[in-house]
Amino acid sequence: MKTENEGFSSTFGAIMAAAGSAVGLGNIWRFPYICGKYGGGAFLVVYIFFVFLIGMTLMMSEFVIGRRTGEGPHRAYSALRPAHPAWRVIGLTGLGTCFLILSVYLIISGWTTNYFWESLVGTLAGIPDDGFAAHFNEFVGNPSRTILFIVIFLVLTTLVIIGGVEKGIERISKLLMPILVVLLLVMCVRSVTLEGASAGLAYLFNPDFSKLTGEGVLAALGQALFSLSVGMGAMVVYGSYLPKDSNILKTSVWIAVCDFAIAILAGIAIFPAVFACGQSPAEGPGLVYQVLPVVFNSFGGVGKIFSIVFFLLLTLAALTSAISLLEALTRWVSNAKRGRTQSAVIMSVLVVILSVLAAFSFGDNAVGRLRFGDMTLFDLLDKLTGTVLPPVCALLTIIFFGWVLKADEIKDELSNHGVHGVSYFKVFYYVLARFVAPVALLVVLISGLLS
Ligand code: TRP
Repeated sequence: MKTENEGFSSTFGAIMAAAGSAVGLGNIWRFPYICGKYGGGAFLVVYIFFVFLIGMTLMMSEFVIGRRTGEGPHRAYSALRPAHPAWRVIGLTGLGTCFLILSVYLIISGWTTNYFWESLVGTLAGIPDDGFAAHFNEFVGNPSRTILFIVIFLVLTTLVIIGGVEKGIERISKLLMPILVVLLLVMCVRSVTLEGASAGLAYLFNPDFSKLTGEGVLAALGQALFSLSVGMGAMVVYGSYLPKDSNILKTSVWIAVCDFAIAILAGIAIFPAVFACGQSPAEGPGLVYQVLPVVFNSFGGVGKIFSIVFFLLLTLAALTSAISLLEALTRWVSNAKRGRTQSAVIMSVLVVILSVLAAFSFGDNAVGRLRFGDMTLFDLLDKLTGTVLPPVCALLTIIFFGWVLKADEIKDELSNHGVHGVSYFKVFYYVLARFVAPVALLVVLISGLLS
């Protein structure tokens, strides 16, 4: 249940919070890698199209659903169509997805926080170039340290949620997002001024249409949804906190621009440096925990500082995303009797249990030996949250929005009850929301299931 005065204090605060949700691990290591892998500039063209047409259509639809009802996803759908309570399923699927995403996110955030700590105390600087792979494997293979940092990270996240929407989430986002941008710019300047940096820029930006396969196009859409945090109800929650006079289109454009810009900057911060020191780009954990530390050590004395800056940056980006995930879950279980604090603690405890279990996937132990098909528990969660569930939830959301809600309801909300014009409405509703977005999502989903 939403208490009357809960919400963001301004459009700016809402943009910072939602951009904080969107900007996360997905921008800083996933985007640069897949951009390079699927043809650089060629991938970028497709990605821009997906972010600003399909991702933003979903974001706007979640904002409309959230703000119109003032409810989280568990109630918003049935509140809009009380005669058909079955629509609740959409919100519940989304929240289930948020729960699973958070459990995976916590593990990677725990790794990142550990690497921040190890940069700070100087452990990383003492490792030889060829020792980082072994260091990483040993670290994840013995999860007690990961668990320690998962707990620290989650406690921070929970404290922000307990602080409230305006005094917790909005305030911390307004503080952290600018810091994040400054840290990222520092990394960019260092990276592009290294000798040999241009090979990294070429990798990232030179359009190579031969590498842009069907798989690359699908990866672009999946990445656009994941990166914008859309399709799982998290933006319905933030929509319910959106000020009544915020312009939903403009707010969404700002969030998408921030998210996109930070992904590009992350690529500029990482690849020129990787190429300049003779390393090759690797995917995911390998890139961040095994390749980048080598790059930092090659900077000499200042490398330690860049290592601290980078892992701090990554930790902060992960934190504002984890906050949004935990907020959605907290909102789900809180009601008149069970307040915010108690709800946040309950959800944190539940999610940390799954997360800790999954952290054991890397060690030689009962969980580590457990297989689902040929996947470990971590792999399974990663697959479900990375490729399967988000397009399912996104498709259900857009079908509800485009085909169940009435054009007038949507127009009324987008125009703030007729206060301003919505000249884009016909294209948005009759083209994007009803046809282009559902069809694109269906294609992604089917081809994802087939592969
Ligand atoms: N957008 C986040 C990132 O880029 C990840 C994410 C996906 C997310 N879905 C979410 C964050 C829902 C918050 C809420 O890393």
